[in-house]
Amino acid sequence: MAKSTNAFTCTACGASHKKWAGRCDACGAWNTIVEEAPLSQGPGRGLGAHKGRAVSLSSLMTTEAPPPRSLSGMEELDRVLGGGLVPGSAILVGGDPGIGKSTLLLQGAAAFARRGANAVYISGEEASAQVRMRAQRLGLADAPVRLGAETNLRDILTTLDNERPDLAIIDSVQTLWSDQVEAAPGSVAQVRAAAHELVTFAKRKGVAIFLVGHVTKEGQIAGPRVVEHMVDTVIYFEGERGHQFRILRSVKNRFGPADEIGVFEMTGSGLAEVANPSALFLSERGQPVPGSAVFAGIEGTRPVLTEVQALVAPSTLASPRRTVVGLDSGRVSTILAVLEARCGIPFAGLDVFLNVAGGMRVNEPAADLAIAGALLSAREDSALPPEAVLFGEISLSGALRPVAQAENRLKEAQKLGFSQAILPDSQKVEGAGGMRINRIADLTRFVGEVFGAG
Ligand code: TYD
Ligand code: MG
Repeated sequence: MAKSTNAFTCTACGASHKKWAGRCDACGAWNTIVEEAPLSQGPGRGLGAHKGRAVSLSSLMTTEAPPPRSLSGMEELDRVLGGGLVPGSAILVGGDPGIGKSTLLLQGAAAFARRGANAVYISGEEASAQVRMRAQRLGLADAPVRLGAETNLRDILTTLDNERPDLAIIDSVQTLWSDQVEAAPGSVAQVRAAAHELVTFAKRKGVAIFLVGHVTKEGQIAGPRVVEHMVDTVIYFEGERGHQFRILRSVKNRFGPADEIGVFEMTGSGLAEVANPSALFLSERGQPVPGSAVFAGIEGTRPVLTEVQALVAPSTLASPRRTVVGLDSGRVSTILAVLEARCGIPFAGLDVFLNVAGGMRVNEPAADLAIAGALLSAREDSALPPEAVLFGEISLSGALRPVAQAENRLKEAQKLGFSQAILPDSQKVEGAGGMRINRIADLTRFVGEVFGAG
């Protein structure tokens, strides 16, 4: 048999490598590449050696109505799932250890079960007694969730096959082991094999399966990214240390919009849903301060207002600091370059700190204008109008480009008491709903109009 290549795998992203390296080329993580026993390629596995079974093919037409989705009643969870749980779907829930995945899924399982779904929770990390204690603390002890503690994949599959629940939670995929794979639990081979078996089972038997996966920074344990491609829906549970807010974000969803978010707050008695995230992220606003800009954003299908905060200070360093939290740092560099090249406002010799209040993360290019606004406001030491929200994309020429869903952004801003919006000249707005609209063609004019300079 030819020597198998690609026997080294990155535990963070699952990329295959021909030889060991300290750093993974694919995802840039350090010390994550491990050697794996190659999958056995038994003799005669090549095409033509054995005749396979013919698969029955069918047309795209269907007469069956799509199965009804089931709702948990936890609106933040249902929304991120794309409008409820699809029977037989496989959902990966990733996140840092301790962020609250087990808490979320126990609450979710209880919510589904209380609405009549048959829910099973299999814990591979905690003993049943521990999970029961948590359920009691969360006030869920009476919910008809059935609990098991097991890590053996074969036993779990047999149990699920006997029970045929509507949904099963497997916490976590990194603790599972299959006796058919010769590798330690948590290794890429085990995690992949376990996920594959469970996803196949979910499809065949119509059991919705939630797989919990811990994000691992380095080492021998495979991270959730190695199974992202196998599942229907990938959601990450995120939060900043020191913040109570937790954001559930769908990054892939075969049954609904991706980039949908659900917002929770970790309390002493579990996760509480935050129905109005804008109010939460803006709640600490007081007097107008230089360096603050309110961005009217869209997360998935919902408008969310966030506050972009900037601090600009003289630097003592040869290459000044660019510290960016919650925004794309490449995007910020581009905006700094456009401000310098097109508006003649240099940031050389200045440290720049940018972040989004409340531990939120913003990826939309529509945030460009708010980022520029916060940067300029901090640099000029002059506050933006406190009643204004901003949105618009900045092109390399310095022109402002329109963005999607302007009306929804304006409506949300108005709901939260804002009365003015600064947006691109070319933006079409059908019904500003009483908001005063300040249209700006390019960044130079923005500097002139808003800061009275440039
Ligand atoms: P957990 O769900 O165990 O995290 P994960 O499964 O992602 O590792 O949550 C652990 C943290 O949540 C722990 O630090 C304690 C905190 N927590 C609360 O603050 N309130 C609660 O009601 C519960 C159950 C946990
Ligand atoms: Mg856990």
